[in-house]
This record gives sequence, C-alpha cells and structure tokens, in this order.
Amino acid sequence: MRAAHVSRLPIADCRFSSPARSTTGGFVVWFTGLSGAGKSTLTNALAPVLRERGLRVEVLDGDAVRTNLSKGLGFSREDRDTNILRIGFVANLLARNGVAVITAAISPYRAARDANRALIEADGSAFVEVHVAATLEECEARDVKGLYAEARSGARAGFTGVDDPYEAPLQPELALPTGSESVDASVGRVLAYLESHGLLPPTRQTRSER
Ligand code: ADX
Repeated sequence: MRAAHVSRLPIADCRFSSPARSTTGGFVVWFTGLSGAGKSTLTNALAPVLRERGLRVEVLDGDAVRTNLSKGLGFSREDRDTNILRIGFVANLLARNGVAVITAAISPYRAARDANRALIEADGSAFVEVHVAATLEECEARDVKGLYAEARSGARAGFTGVDDPYEAPLQPELALPTGSESVDASVGRVLAYLESHGLLPPTRQTRSER
C-alpha cells in the first residue's frame, strides 16, 4: 500500500505527451537502481563530460546527501521518501536555473520518483529517469561495500532488494544493463539521449559521424 504522505503528492499524468522537454535549459538525469548497481560510478563519469561540453553541472549523490541535507534519516519507507523528495526539491531549484543535475540515490519507490518528475516537469525542466539496471545477483556478487553480506546474515535489516522493496521504473527514458555493459557504453547512451532530445549540443565529431 502506498504511504499516506506520498499518495497525497501529485503524480505525473502526462508523462508521454512531453518527453524530456526543457524550457529552462536545465534537466535532471535521475539515476535509480539497487545499491552497487553503478549509479555513483556513472555519475562520476558523466558529470565531467557534461562540464567539458559547457554545461553547468551539479551532482546530488545519495551517500553525500545523507551526510548533510538528509543527515539523521534512516531507511524506513517514510525516511527514504523524505530523502528522495528533498533531493527532488533541490534538483528542481537547480534545473529551473539552467543547471544540468545528476542524482544518484536508490530511490526505491515509484511514487516518490513520479512526484519529483511532476515537480520538475511542471517548472519546465526535463526529467530523464535512468534505470541503472544491474540485477540483484550482479550487485550482490560485487558487494563493493559488504552490505549485501551483512543483509543476508541478518546484521542489517531492511536492505533494498534483500528484505526491502525496489520498484523498478515501468517506462524509464533509459535502462542501462550495467551488470554487462561498460561504463563508457552506458555514459555514451546517456549522452546520445541528451543530444537527441536537444538537452546537450552535439559535438562536431558526433555531427560528422551522422
Ligand atoms: S534511498 O533508499 O533513500 O534512495 P540512498 O541512495 O540515499 O537510499 O542510500 C543508499 C546507500 O545507503 C546504499 O548504497 C548503502 O551504502 C547505504 N545503506 C545503508 N543501509 C541501507 C539499507 N537498509 N538499504 C539500502 N541502502 C542502505
């Protein structure tokens, strides 16, 4: 059942009639996916490329946000939704001032992501939802932070994908199979999407390749 505080939020209802348009010049690339799927890695690879190509870029990374903006929040559904809505609020302020924003939080609940989409699109910026779609098996096999092992042993309760939900996007702008695809290839697909939707000017090289 959808938590009461989220069910009151506006949900985007015209998602397919206005794909990735921006009247502000700003946009939000919203990476969502399991812990260890590669959200931060893609963010760290994408941000400098966008800067080199002349965009003003800000990054809102889940781990970093939880040390300041969302300090003190835990991992209950309510706290996760609060965290995600805060990230969406700040992302919108930046995007509507022409900034290219990249967010990298699990953002496990569809309703909170859709509420952010509605907010950001209503203010004229594009919302590009990117499912960083490494599978649970792939994330668990890597277990970079050792947290899946803790979750399986019972030392860490309510871990996303193990004993807490992850609601995958139903119609993301992009889904990247990061368990099998290289970082360069995934970043290339994001760049191609941004170019083809007028959010990033094509490079001379890209133009001549067409
Ligand atoms: S979210 O659910 O609110 O979007 P967020 O992306 O900010 O999560 O933080 C996720 C990170 O917190 C994970 O990558 C992991 O390092 C850490 N973490 C600690 N406990 C949990 C948990 N119970 N579920 C998921 N991630 C957790």
